[in-house]
Amino acid sequence: MAFNEAQFKDILAEFTIGTERLHEIAATFRQDLQLGLRDVTLSSMRMLKSYVGLPSGKETGEYLALDFGGTNIRVFKFRLDGDGKFEIIKRVGRPLIVRGEYDYICKDATAEQMFDFIAELIDEVIDGDHNTKYYLGHTFSFPSTQDNLYNARLIIWTKEFATQGVEGEVANDLLVEALKRRGAGNVEPVAVLNDTVAVLLSAAYKTPDTFIGSIYATGHNTCYLEPTIHDPQGVGLGGMILNLECGNFSKIVPNRFDAEYDAGSEKPGEQRFEKMVSGRYMGELFGMAIAELLGEKGKHYGLTSIDMSAMISDNSPNLHVVSDIIMAKVGRELEFDDVAKIRELAAAIVIRSARLVAASFVALVWQRAGSGKIQKQHVAVDGSVYEKMPLAKDNITKAIGELLGDDAAQVDTILDNGGSGLGAAIAAAMAVQK
Ligand code: BGC
Repeated sequence: MAFNEAQFKDILAEFTIGTERLHEIAATFRQDLQLGLRDVTLSSMRMLKSYVGLPSGKETGEYLALDFGGTNIRVFKFRLDGDGKFEIIKRVGRPLIVRGEYDYICKDATAEQMFDFIAELIDEVIDGDHNTKYYLGHTFSFPSTQDNLYNARLIIWTKEFATQGVEGEVANDLLVEALKRRGAGNVEPVAVLNDTVAVLLSAAYKTPDTFIGSIYATGHNTCYLEPTIHDPQGVGLGGMILNLECGNFSKIVPNRFDAEYDAGSEKPGEQRFEKMVSGRYMGELFGMAIAELLGEKGKHYGLTSIDMSAMISDNSPNLHVVSDIIMAKVGRELEFDDVAKIRELAAAIVIRSARLVAASFVALVWQRAGSGKIQKQHVAVDGSVYEKMPLAKDNITKAIGELLGDDAAQVDTILDNGGSGLGAAIAAAMAVQK
């Protein structure tokens, strides 16, 4: 059975965004941002204040960094040498869940168990030294509100976390209690920040003229330096970094797959933008479209963005990687033409994702420029989709070109690998050295 040509074209069109529409999306994003700057309840984004601006690049000293943004917890000891230089003195990493052994992210797990596990890792990094004073920066990558650099309070778990007793609590307080239970009260958390903010701090420490930081991975979110917001205790330069939580941006018309996926998801109505662009969801949309083509609507094949990456990278004459994945996950042997179409569909979903992410970056570039000229700048991005997914980075660049025209020469995206850890150490230094 060959795919129905008209149906295939129709599905591809659902995932295609032309230049004009992309312009509208960027403008809508900026408008939503401006509404939020006036009154946050008017925006679909949470636009959370981080209580930190940019580093000077002169931050120095030894700091601990905790990177808590997904199932893999990492703890580092950094030495910052200033001038954008640093060294990792020690690092440990361990997952919060090992199937069959332990699980600290399920709904039966408690905050105490989760933070005791984290305190144990911190203790390992300081070699059980319970005397020296250590300052710690904490990258906590879940939507949280805070009114200083220390006290981020978790609003709601994302990324399928369900541990009891953390929502509504100050993450650093839970950490401090766990450190005390372990006898490691000499470790003092002094700063908490979202991973996007950490990426921005880390990139800005090394590369001046960076004002936007983004994660483009399993999850998606972006922050930027808003020059008009100044907090009296605001640590850092140039205004305040706002964590947009733009994964929740919802003023965009979803296609029928987006709408259907959202309706059947864990949290319908939440994280609409993230569900269109991030690695966690691209495979789901891809699977839904394939099911429609095969007349198996509603069937789940368990396709992932890693499968899509492998398929798009398959340049073999007979597309055997694509065929093998389809065989393994969909259980079908398809004609070559259909195999090629599936590869084309994977590419279209990734390209749409990259274009949408680019539109949000351009909206922020416009916002920072106001009525003035767009200044030379970098957008720092970390995450597996940006780093490894074929077509992602190239299509961000292409879309920025379409939206900014000649001004596109002023803006590029740069990979900031590992910024979640380094950024936390920098934030700790900024808090202590302010
Ligand atoms: C979270 C954000 C985070 C992003 C990337 C989203 O699900 O809500 O806080 O920055 O994932 O890790």
